[in-house]
Amino acid sequence: MVGSRPRVILSAAISLDGKIATKTGKSELSSKRDKTRVHKLRSKVDAIIIGKNTAKIDDPLLTVRYAKGKNPTRIILDSCGTILPRSNIIKTAKHVRTIIVVSKKAPKKNLARLDKYPLEILVAGQNQVNIKKLLNLLYKKKIKTILLEGGGTVNWDFVRQGMVDELIVTVTPYLVGGKDAITLVEGDGFSDITNSAKLKLQKVMRQNDEIVLYYI
Ligand SMILES: NC(=O)c1ccc[n+]([C@@H]2O[C@H](COP(=O)([O-])OP(=O)(O)OC[C@H]3O[C@@H](n4cnc5c(N)ncnc54)[C@H](OP(=O)(O)O)[C@@H]3O)[C@@H](O)[C@H]2O)c1
Repeated sequence: MVGSRPRVILSAAISLDGKIATKTGKSELSSKRDKTRVHKLRSKVDAIIIGKNTAKIDDPLLTVRYAKGKNPTRIILDSCGTILPRSNIIKTAKHVRTIIVVSKKAPKKNLARLDKYPLEILVAGQNQVNIKKLLNLLYKKKIKTILLEGGGTVNWDFVRQGMVDELIVTVTPYLVGGKDAITLVEGDGFSDITNSAKLKLQKVMRQNDEIVLYYI
């Protein structure tokens, strides 16, 4: 039980060498079958969270398309409110509930620009979005389950604070390499193995050349 915050499921597709994108930001690692699995999972959660780099680089819709079911609320962590009006998220905000989370340092002109669109703007944190505050706010809005869909920088902030309750990772059959390619968890990292987040393997599922790992 996680108390008065939503349950967080970290979901990602990684290469065999632990990257979530190539050095140029290409992240199409998973198979159609895996996409269907992820979309089914999306339809069962209340919200999806991503970081602003993922919104910018992937320009995702974050909707349920490869399966049947409702679209979860889309939540973008964007401290300065920089998401572009031409992004797929903003263009579809009329149809899918969308929350942009900013911090107190977000410039007024960016907030005024976002105000023109059918978005909810939440303020949590001083300089960067404060995850703890955000999760409390979301819980009050009846958001009880969250799919955390990256990228590595945002994943780290959740892992660092022990706020990942479940992890579902698809290991795909690619070796992409690249010292600057983004990995599943970025940030400063832990110094010791003993202090690192340790999870428990619950299930392993094979999908042709991929394996899906379920940890809690
Ligand atoms: N394979 C997969 O499953 C998968 C999934 C998702 C993404 N990706 C890939 O991951 C790459 C992007 O990852 P990324 O690590 O560069 O960026 P990211 O995690 O998507 O976004 C990071 C940005 O989010 C903002 N942010 C707001 N609050 C934050 C907080 N509390 N903690 C951390 N960040 C916060 C920060 O910008 P501000 O300070 O301006 O707010 C930060 O720079 C892309 O190439 C994408 O394709 C792959």
